[in-house]
Amino acid sequence: MTNDGDDPDDQGDGIDDGGQHPQLTTVQGWRRFVTEVPAAPQLLAPSVWSSLDEDKRTAYDEDRLDHHSRLLVVQTPTIRDVVNTGRRLVLLNRTAAYGRSGLIVSGPARTGKTTAITQLGKTIEVIHHRRHPRSSGDIPVIYITVPPAATPKMIAMEFARFFGLPVSRRSNITDIIESACGVCLDTRVTLVAVDELHNLNTTTRAGAEASDTLKYFSERIPATFVYAGINLQRTGLLTGTRGEQIAGRFGMIRTGVFNQDEDWTALIAALESSLRLHHHRPGILTRLDSYLHRRTKGMIGSLLWLIRTAAINAILDGTEKITKATLETVAADIASQDPPPRPPGGKA
Ligand SMILES: Nc1ncnc2c1ncn2[C@@H]1O[C@H](COP(=O)(O)OP(=O)(O)O)[C@@H](O)[C@H]1O
Ligand SMILES: [Mg+2]
Repeated sequence: MTNDGDDPDDQGDGIDDGGQHPQLTTVQGWRRFVTEVPAAPQLLAPSVWSSLDEDKRTAYDEDRLDHHSRLLVVQTPTIRDVVNTGRRLVLLNRTAAYGRSGLIVSGPARTGKTTAITQLGKTIEVIHHRRHPRSSGDIPVIYITVPPAATPKMIAMEFARFFGLPVSRRSNITDIIESACGVCLDTRVTLVAVDELHNLNTTTRAGAEASDTLKYFSERIPATFVYAGINLQRTGLLTGTRGEQIAGRFGMIRTGVFNQDEDWTALIAALESSLRLHHHRPGILTRLDSYLHRRTKGMIGSLLWLIRTAAINAILDGTEKITKATLETVAADIASQDPPPRPPGGKA
């Protein structure tokens, strides 16, 4: 919804994610994301609201539409787990001369993997700049996505593209790797987040070589590597000789659907409290927790989609509230019609 159009981060599950992840795969976009302080708009008092002239009212509503198309990042158990584990690894790896370890975040589509690793990246970057106040030139965190059917050169190009290094199709792969690694070292990269890792198809020769290229980067760059992708434990990526080398050095956090429990209700409560609708009665959504669980099969991506859509409808049609009836009118999205994914797994 707030996507800038040609958003490469939307590839993978092929579903619009509601604009939560604008262009993160370049240093400018990433910095914008890190420095952005998401602020929910203030709800005007009824008398002020009703006396706004048309221009002001349009601007006010636009602000609120924009807000509801994103809502907020809720501190779910997955986010906490990924951020805490990732921070710990960065600390431990800082002093490790060899044998650095990494983290894999794996689970079905739309279970919050990208959100979790980007929140980790944001945390690490903020900490880095706090520890090194005169480090504005540093690039402590890089975020890239693996393109479909990735080849070694495509992996190297993603690193280069993040930094905005000039590369052409004719550039040779060794040069691209050398210049990308050079920038990583110069700018003190400490965390490398690689998303959509399921796009590495290690059953093809090009895919296997692409995976080696990534491994080579992880050996050259003294950073903590975090991978995210769909059901990676089931792919060839972590099996075989190559895979076992990766699997042995990486911890795994699995994402999945929510059970209908207090975490689910807390998630709904957090989302509900971020609503900026004039006639919404707080508590309506939390009381609909089992209904919402049925509708979304406990999938966070579907829940966000449903609540964002209902909230936007409520502003556009002037009802200014979400009820079970208005939720009913929101068509089920594609993902929640799929068979339910596996329940959440613990850490491997
Ligand atoms: N902790 C969270 N708080 C708020 N929204 C979230 C959270 N985790 C995921 N979402 C939303 O759910 C949708 C799917 O999340 P995403 O991180 O893209 O999943 P994945 O990478 O597993 O496909 C996105 O719209 C995202 O904004
Ligand atoms: Mg994702």
